[in-house]
Amino acid sequence: MKTILVTGGLGFIGSETTIELIKNGYDPIVVDNLYNAKRSVLDRIEEITGKKPAFYEIDACDEEALEKVFEEHRIDATIHFAGYKAVAESTRKPLEYYQNNLGSALAVLKVMKRHDSHGFIFSSSATVYGVPEHLPLVETDPVGSATNPYGETKIMIERILEDAAKADSSLQVILLRYFNPIGAHPSGLLGEDPNGIPNNLMPYVTQVAIGKLDHLNVNGDDYPTPDGTGVRDYIHVVDLAKGHVAALKRLETLKGLDIYNLGTGKGTSVLEVVHAFEKATGVKIPYVIAPRRPGDVAANYADASKAERELHWKATLTVEDACRDAYNFQKKNPNGII
Ligand code: UD1
Repeated sequence: MKTILVTGGLGFIGSETTIELIKNGYDPIVVDNLYNAKRSVLDRIEEITGKKPAFYEIDACDEEALEKVFEEHRIDATIHFAGYKAVAESTRKPLEYYQNNLGSALAVLKVMKRHDSHGFIFSSSATVYGVPEHLPLVETDPVGSATNPYGETKIMIERILEDAAKADSSLQVILLRYFNPIGAHPSGLLGEDPNGIPNNLMPYVTQVAIGKLDHLNVNGDDYPTPDGTGVRDYIHVVDLAKGHVAALKRLETLKGLDIYNLGTGKGTSVLEVVHAFEKATGVKIPYVIAPRRPGDVAANYADASKAERELHWKATLTVEDACRDAYNFQKKNPNGII
């Protein structure tokens, strides 16, 4: 396996994975429609790796355009990141989310089939577990129902892939269930660049740190957790990207479909993130306790031992490392990637 199609390859996780692919001798072919990413990410990837990947500005829902990519390259495997990902927006625009996220996955799978390309790695999410019945979450735990259309698209695409793998024994599929990706490339060249006011915790904190936002709202301090604030499994995006390289190696011997949690196995509360950030950067984060956010669970963290056993992959960076890198990126890019 050498030539890897990366849909959404200029996004937060996609760009970091493209870097890891180049560093590990793969030949990534990047597809992105620039809906939520900037073309200049390509130059930044080149600055970091010394190599500019092949790039197609196309929509992953566009089968005809994908055909051209598969005609021009013998694609050994696809890593499918392309998709809409904003939880709150998905509740306002459910049709767009179902259309785009399901449509792109289906389009890529159909074109792969026509070109006898069998490997598919899907960016799934811990959100598929719904409200956890116990912690840590294991891959064999039931897939629940998500609290928003974004999460439902992840559940539906997982089901589509299960059916597709049952129907076609040559298909090799890995579902990677990400926990909470945070951090940035240590160079400060690449990182999370949300549009508008961030919904997720870490970009919100970094914007408070540079004075763009006034204070953090801690959403709920009455959860049944040690300090009452929500607990999540925060994973550095560089560790997460390396998990994709490990999954590609696993594809070489895989028959059918397999599932891996990509997390650290450790839960961290909102207030612990704030303290880790302050320790890592020396910047104080003012916060106020605000109401719970609808749809949030109290705690959520991975049992990541299957990935360690079978992918020989393990997260090595800490929440403090991620805070330092996210802050460095935010300082260097106060208005995001231009
Ligand atoms: C959400 C999505 C998840 C998605 C992930 C992307 C759901 C329910 N969650 O995860 O599917 O993969 O984003 O990274 O679909 N918090 C605050 N103040 C803020 C923002 C967040 O206190 O301003 C708290 C939240 O209540 C939560 C924690 O920080 O306890 C993490 O929130 P967030 O970064 O938004 O991630 P999730 O909701 O866990």
